[in-house]
Amino acid sequence: MANIKAKSAAFYNIGQLRLDYWNKLKVATSELARCVQEKKDDKKCSALTEQIITDLGSVEHYFAFPGITRLENLEAMLHRSEFMAFANRVSEITRQLVSDSYRGNPEALDDEEMSIEKVEAYERLDGVKKNYFEVLFIGDESKEEEASLRVKLKELRMANEQFEYGIVVQHSFQDALITLLFNYNIQAVVVKYAPAYLSKNISPIIEPYIQNALKLDFSEQDETDLGPILGSLIKTLRPELDTYYVTDSSLGSLKDSTLKNFERIFYNTEDLQELHLTIVRGIAERYETPFFSALKEYSQKPTGVFHAMPISRGNSVFKSRWINDFGEFYGRNMFLAETSATTGGLDSLLQPTGTLKKAQEMARDTYGSRQTFFVTNGTSTANKIVMQALVKPGDVVMIDRDCHKSHHYGLVLSGAYPVYLDSYPIQEYSMYGAVPLEQIKRKMLQLEEAGRLSKVKMLLLTNCTFDGLVYNVERVMEEVLAIKPDMIFLWDEAWFAFAGFTYNYKQRTGMFVANRLATKYKSNTYKKAYAKHIKSLGPNERPKMPDPDKVRIRVYSTQSTHKTLSSFRQGSMIHIWDEDFKRKSESTFLEAYMTHTSTSPNYQMLASLDVGRRQVQFEGYELVEKSIELAMVLRAKINGNPKLSKYFDVLTVQDFIPKQYRQTGLKEYYDKKDGWNRMEEAWEFDEFVLDPTKITLNIGRTGVDGDTFKNKYLMDKFSIQINKTSRNTVLFMTNIGTTRGSVTYLTNALLKIADSLDDDLLALNNREKEIRAKRIHSLTTEVPPLPDFSYFHHSFQAVPGVPGGDLRAAYFLAYNEDNYEYIMLSECLPALKKKRTLVASTFVIPYPPGFPVLVPGQVVSEEIIRFLLALDVSEIHGYRHDLGLRVFKESVLDRQKTVSAMGAASRAKKIN
Ligand SMILES: Cc1ncc(COP(=O)(O)O)c(C=O)c1O
Repeated sequence: MANIKAKSAAFYNIGQLRLDYWNKLKVATSELARCVQEKKDDKKCSALTEQIITDLGSVEHYFAFPGITRLENLEAMLHRSEFMAFANRVSEITRQLVSDSYRGNPEALDDEEMSIEKVEAYERLDGVKKNYFEVLFIGDESKEEEASLRVKLKELRMANEQFEYGIVVQHSFQDALITLLFNYNIQAVVVKYAPAYLSKNISPIIEPYIQNALKLDFSEQDETDLGPILGSLIKTLRPELDTYYVTDSSLGSLKDSTLKNFERIFYNTEDLQELHLTIVRGIAERYETPFFSALKEYSQKPTGVFHAMPISRGNSVFKSRWINDFGEFYGRNMFLAETSATTGGLDSLLQPTGTLKKAQEMARDTYGSRQTFFVTNGTSTANKIVMQALVKPGDVVMIDRDCHKSHHYGLVLSGAYPVYLDSYPIQEYSMYGAVPLEQIKRKMLQLEEAGRLSKVKMLLLTNCTFDGLVYNVERVMEEVLAIKPDMIFLWDEAWFAFAGFTYNYKQRTGMFVANRLATKYKSNTYKKAYAKHIKSLGPNERPKMPDPDKVRIRVYSTQSTHKTLSSFRQGSMIHIWDEDFKRKSESTFLEAYMTHTSTSPNYQMLASLDVGRRQVQFEGYELVEKSIELAMVLRAKINGNPKLSKYFDVLTVQDFIPKQYRQTGLKEYYDKKDGWNRMEEAWEFDEFVLDPTKITLNIGRTGVDGDTFKNKYLMDKFSIQINKTSRNTVLFMTNIGTTRGSVTYLTNALLKIADSLDDDLLALNNREKEIRAKRIHSLTTEVPPLPDFSYFHHSFQAVPGVPGGDLRAAYFLAYNEDNYEYIMLSECLPALKKKRTLVASTFVIPYPPGFPVLVPGQVVSEEIIRFLLALDVSEIHGYRHDLGLRVFKESVLDRQKTVSAMGAASRAKKIN
């Protein structure tokens, strides 16, 4: 457990704090200018302005714009008493910072006299919009050398270059690390041989934001090792950045780890031009989008189409008198890029050799996998591909019962036996949490006792869940691998594609942990620790650490890129980190991929996956951090406003996660009294954490249920679209597209709803008030029970008395109409009383919650009937109100029992 107590802060992150300081400076400077103009005493104003500049200095130290030099220039203006010019300049810098316009007009940066008029004139001239970034240099340059470096690098730039960069120079390891943490513009890092370790700039103002960086302690390291250590840290924290190392050491004396952690090694004697060209080339390579570029180029070529697709090039659309509005709506490029060609620069998704291959390889490197496959039918299909690739009929899959339906259907197709795992219930809000590790291990030991553990192939969990619960992926994998070292993990990261781009989140993703554990188990340190651990065990104690000689790292994750990153709908990816992929699974994977992938994949979607990859490589860190910031702002705004908290509250970490799974004790991210709590420690240690970008609003006190609130209040009145509701909650999410404006719009909408609820209340008569109170009582206290998975009927159990069911047999048994019958829900409880066993013959999936409460072959328990009776949703797949529940006939179950017993006997024989 970490012993650093995370400090609370007044602002969620350094970006917020920085803008606040610039705004404060703006106010102080105009006040100072006014005092001087009106010949009032300006001492107080001057002192305040000086203080703000000093404080800002400790922040600006980490940025190129406006940066410490501009701040020093401002201070000099102040000392020269140029108050008006000073106020104008501060106001302009603040405007550029707030609007981010400095990045669109990099020329403006170096023009100290740049004014709003000049910027506008520049924009009017339609100057080339360059891609601006910053390069971090770490070395021991003096101020003069630093200034000369800036000038020389500037001279090397050509006017027509697409990229433009500023530089931040740091002199210590700690300052470099803080720059990487704070500065979203950094795209490349140049480490010069042996930087100092300790920072001389850390002020109390920035301390709360650098807790993680301060926890790392390399002060005892030889200074010559600090450069390579920094390189390796960058590969963990911000692997998308290009890293370069400048040294005097000969190639032979450099360690392999140094060579591995830097894109290129430079010698001090090499000229600056080479470095400059390498930096720009590195950016250009990442900017490449092989498939999107090929598609763009293809669309511009004149081609005759004697193939499928009349809409290709818009031919059947723009000529039509009846559907040309379709063409106008989407625009010409959409149709020019519609083609079924796989040559001419394009490629075949089913057997890629060119641009799609390259695009997938670039995605692989960006997402940290060993193989990445694009999927054009969403994660629903990605999940089925992975399931079919890795398990066969009769294998056992441990799976969270409330996972997405695609997994259950995948099990039917593959014929594997599911062992369902129950997530802990969150009764009060009619939701499920996630599966505790203890339960997973307990079920594994149960299977071991029954001689079935060798049949278990895969553990499948949803991370993060729709509601934002995130597993401790590393702990789950370590403890499961200690029991079964060849377990395959499928992490359904449909809602978590963005997580790989900021460290807190990344450490809880499948790919990152796979990589980390593979390295760990191969290390001598681990092998020694394991040997010691084995020696320390008592006679009947089982090892708690995975055996390094047996463990295999086999991890798959499926991500709906389209849900949280930039991609057209249905754009998804499968990421693989499987040591045995080539040897054991590649051919079955490719077969499964062929089974489910269309021979006519949508090119727009594939191009969007390619471009989405470019985006996260350049601005993933920034955009993800900003979407977290906005979520935090929204949480604080709602909970801090008394008008809103009369009807709503944002559910907190402790509402979602029972105490025993919150080892660090974090209860919520924001506290009215203490400000922001740091999330880092909890994300490192707790069994479960809550993704703050999933904001669940408790609306029980409004007396309106979730579904009605979503449709009648948010959508009809304010055109606010949300996805998930429960009986008494609605879920909002922020993502990389969320803007400050949309957060404000939502807050205002909630305020208006609160006003209208107040007005409604005033207009009610006494009887209506009673009815309303009853509704509120029902929504806040009368919560329906949340049933666990009951069990498979013994006719469908893989082995009698052992978890695991033959879902596929039950599913196909119901293909014959004679095998099932319907029973009305109202008759189910009396039937159970008369000792009838009801067995579902179909999936029953209510929306919400959106996962099966019944699967084929499952015994219908009293709790499940009560849950279905209490459900007030209209959409239940697999169930028709007019027909009732579809269950197997009793006579069929008897027959099936005999068949199943024969099967079990033969299986038992095989086990023995
Ligand atoms: C956990 C989970 N997995 C998979 C999917 C399916 O993803 P897609 O919509 O990309 O097919 C969803 C969809 O909501 C989901 O919530």
